[in-house]
This record gives sequence, structure tokens and C-alpha cells, in this order.
Amino acid sequence: MGEIGFWLNGQKVQVAGVDPHTTVLAWLRQQGLTGSKEGCAEGECGACAVLLLRPDGSGSRLEAVNGCLLLLSSLAGQEVWTVEGLARGKALHPVQEAMLQGGSQCGYCTPGFVVSMAAEYYRKGRQEFDLEALSGNLCRCTGYRPIKAAAFSLGQPPEHDPLARRLAQPAPVVESLDYSPSVTSTLPQAQRFFRPGSLRELFQIQAEHPSAKLVAGGTDWVVEVNQRFARAPVQIDLGHLPELQSLSWTHEYVEIGAGVTLSEAERWLQGRIPLLAEWFPRFASRLIRNRATFGGNLGTASPIGDSPPVLLALGASLVLVSASGEREVALEHFFTAYRQTALRPGELIKAVRIPLPLLPESCFYKVSKRPMDDISTVAMGIAMQRSSTGRVEAIRIGLGGVAATPVRAYQTEAALLGQPWEESSLRKAAQVLKAEFKPIDDHRGSAAYRTAMLGNLLWKFYTETPEVLA
Ligand SMILES: Cc1cc2nc3c(=O)[nH]c(=O)nc-3n(C[C@H](O)[C@H](O)[C@H](O)COP(=O)(O)OP(=O)(O)OC[C@H]3O[C@@H](n4cnc5c(N)ncnc54)[C@H](O)[C@@H]3O)c2cc1C
Ligand code: FES
Ligand code: FES
Repeated sequence: MGEIGFWLNGQKVQVAGVDPHTTVLAWLRQQGLTGSKEGCAEGECGACAVLLLRPDGSGSRLEAVNGCLLLLSSLAGQEVWTVEGLARGKALHPVQEAMLQGGSQCGYCTPGFVVSMAAEYYRKGRQEFDLEALSGNLCRCTGYRPIKAAAFSLGQPPEHDPLARRLAQPAPVVESLDYSPSVTSTLPQAQRFFRPGSLRELFQIQAEHPSAKLVAGGTDWVVEVNQRFARAPVQIDLGHLPELQSLSWTHEYVEIGAGVTLSEAERWLQGRIPLLAEWFPRFASRLIRNRATFGGNLGTASPIGDSPPVLLALGASLVLVSASGEREVALEHFFTAYRQTALRPGELIKAVRIPLPLLPESCFYKVSKRPMDDISTVAMGIAMQRSSTGRVEAIRIGLGGVAATPVRAYQTEAALLGQPWEESSLRKAAQVLKAEFKPIDDHRGSAAYRTAMLGNLLWKFYTETPEVLA
């Protein structure tokens, strides 16, 4: 109860007396492992990246994640590798060698790039280097061209590569956890960190600690911990609940567990839901998507969260679960007011359900200051079906950033339903859309800008759809 055990660079370590809010990055640096750097402490720069070993069939794989957003307590029973663990004695790792050929100047970002590159280097079945692997790493002095050159110069791991051999073996089996540093430390407040192994166990913990903080990937929560000094006397890690890990494709719907990471969902779907395939790369970075979940994105109830616009367009519903059973709620009824949801006390999101068949034409637009790794000013998800005569037979428009909650544009949908898909209908619908919401001014964009964007995005969708159906 008073210790956390995990594998660090292949060695077992036991840690005691550590505040459960401590991040992996902070702890590593306290131990003198200062290869991982702190640039921002909020998941934006990737200087802190570390590698987590995750199950993959009969073996395992390495996933690069932000050490600044990973709680040390959530490492219990897991295996983590840092930049220090990649070199073989005095010999550099092939990725480090490649980066030395012009990919590094001041070197501050370099360990993070090396870690993200190593995850891609060991990806099974890799033919070409996927630059998405580096989407969460920033460099302010070298420029990205030599870094890309380093990435593209990488070959395959040699036959006796120690990490490649490790990946042929399974990842450690992660068990339930009840950790309290107070047993061994003099922290002022009693603190607990639980990791239940089933929903039944979770509900028992919740019955004793009703205001415990639920933590999934931690990519929202740990930013609060780092930047606003948020603290929760009791945290419950949802990361290893089998009931939140479902991935199934039935005749009626596709179900994605609330605890499945976005990278895992992306890999499993393999583009079978085109709207999500278009959406995933616009969501944060690979480092963040390796931890972030749908449950966490919807759980924040942010009006600018990016999953609601696409899930609204897909007509999704949520499976909610509590000790008294399950219920299904349409996503359009889930957000009740600013940062408020239909979740009852003791209830959590178990899964997202996307009904089948999908509407055949769809698009996701995200207006943000940077194309990658940025927060939406306005986001729109659209899915539509046209009849053989070219009229709109079904349409769903989901929006973020234009109201206190994510919303469906019902009036605009009604204005388009049954209409021919042509310029005159679209001009009228764009006017309806611009009048349907009263966005606010903030530092990301004025109300007038957001309103103008709404009309423009609908028009963009029109121009990107073929005039007549094939
Ligand atoms: C650098 C950076 C970039 C980001 N970019 C984007 C972006 O492009 N688009 C975007 O939308 N967001 C973005 N985010 C925000 C964040 O990554 C997402 O909201 C993410 O989906 C949160 O998931 P998580 O599992 O990490 O949630 P956590 O941080 O673990 O939890 C978030 C909240 O949800 C609650 N929660 C978690 N799981 C459940 C559940 N199953 N049921 C009920 N409540 C639950 C938690 O209690 C907590 O209040 C970004 C964050 C960072 C740090
Ligand atoms: S320190 Fe910048 S992403 Fe972690
Ligand atoms: S080498 Fe200086 S920040 Fe990248």
C-alpha cells in the first residue's frame, strides 16, 4: 500500500512516500535522470517524452507519452523506458546516431525527439517513417528539415537489438492498486491513489470515497495539477478497467470503450469510419493521443472539445454506467450547460456507440491558429446522405466553440433537409447557420469571426462534395 513498483529501463524499482500527484518527469529528474526535459509541463513541447511498454498481441510495443502528464502512481506494475535506457553502454542508439547528423543544436528538445523516434523505429510492420510520430515534439532552433532527414535515414532494428527482443515478450500484467504515501511519508494530508481492476471494484471505492477524482489518460487532469496546482485527496485510475476497453463492430453500431486511447481506436478502426479517420490527426499530437481517451474528452464537457462535433455528426450515443446499472443517452442530450453533463453522481461513461450504417458523405473542419496540436476556435463535423435525385435525405451537423456546450445545428439541418444540394440551398442554409448561434468573444476569436467561420465551413463542405452522386 505504501509503495509503487515498476520497471525502469529494464530494472525493477520500488518507490515509497511519493505524493500521488507527482509526475513521471518530476520524479525522473529528482533521481538524476535528467535526459527528459521540462519545457512546458502541459503536453505541448514533447521534451519530456518517455516510452511506455503496452500489450500488443503476444508481444508488446513502445508508445511515446508525455512524462509531464503521466502520474508516477499510474506507472505501478508497468514498464517505462527513458532516453537514458536507449544507449547501449557507451554506444549510442541508432536513433541517437541519426539525430547527431545535424538534427540537434542546443539539444533541449533532442531527448524528446529521440524517444518519439524510437517508438516509431520499433513499430511493427514499419515500412516508412510516419512523421505523425513526431507531431508532439517542438524544436525552436534546428528546424524540422534535418530532424525529418534523421527520421527518414533510419533502417530496421538489427536482429539482436535488445529492445526489439524485449518487444517480442509480453508487457507486464498490470494489477489493481491501492497506494497511499502517508504510510511511509509525512505528507500533510492523507492521499490515496486507486487503480481498480473491475467496475465492481471501482463502485466499492466510490461508495467509500464519493468525491474521488476519476483519471483516464490524465491529459486534461494533470495539466490542472501542474499549472493550477489542482489536488484531489483520492484519485481513481480508470486506465485498466476491462469494461471500459471494448472495441466492437456489430450490425447496428460500432462501440468504442471510454477508456480506449485515441491511438488505439485509430489503429483498430483502420479508416473504417472516414469522419474519424479525418479527425484523429487534427486532435493534439501522437504523444497526447497515446494517452487521451473519448471518456476523458467528453468528461471534461468542454465547449471546444473536438470529439463532440464529430460524434454528434455521427449520431453517437453514450453508454453510462453506475452501481445501479447501465443506460444509453444520445450525445445531443449529454451536455446540459457550460461544463455540465447528464452524468449522475457515481456514474461514468462506459462507451461511445456510433450507429450503423454511416451517412456516406462527411467532413471535419477545425479552425485553429496552428493546423497541428492546437485548440479549436470553431469545429464542425458534418455527415450527410443525398438521394439519387441529389436532394438531402439526412444530415447531421455537430459544432464546437459556438455555444456554452457542443451543439447540433438543428435549424440548419432542417433548412437543408429535402432540398437539392445546390448553391441556392446552401446560401440560404449558411444564413440560417450564422443566425442559429450567438458565439462569444474570447482570445481565440471574436463572436463575429466565429459566426463568419460557420457560414464559410458549410460552404466549404458544399464545394468539396461532388455535384452529382456517382
Ligand atoms: C497538449 C494538449 C493538446 C490537446 N489537444 C486537444 C485537441 O486537439 N482537442 C481536444 O478536444 N482536446 C485536446 N486536449 C485536451 C485533452 O487531451 C482531451 O480532452 C483528452 O481527450 C482527455 O482525455 P484523458 O483520458 O486524458 O482525460 P483525463 O485528463 O484523464 O480526464 C479528463 C476529465 O474527464 C473525466 N473522465 C475521464 N474519463 C471519464 C469517464 N470514463 N467517465 C466520466 N468522466 C471521465 C475526468 O474525471 C476528468 O475530469 C489537449 C490537451 C493537451 C495537454
Ligand atoms: S514538458 Fe512540454 S510536453 Fe512535457
Ligand atoms: S535543438 Fe534546440 S530546441 Fe531543438
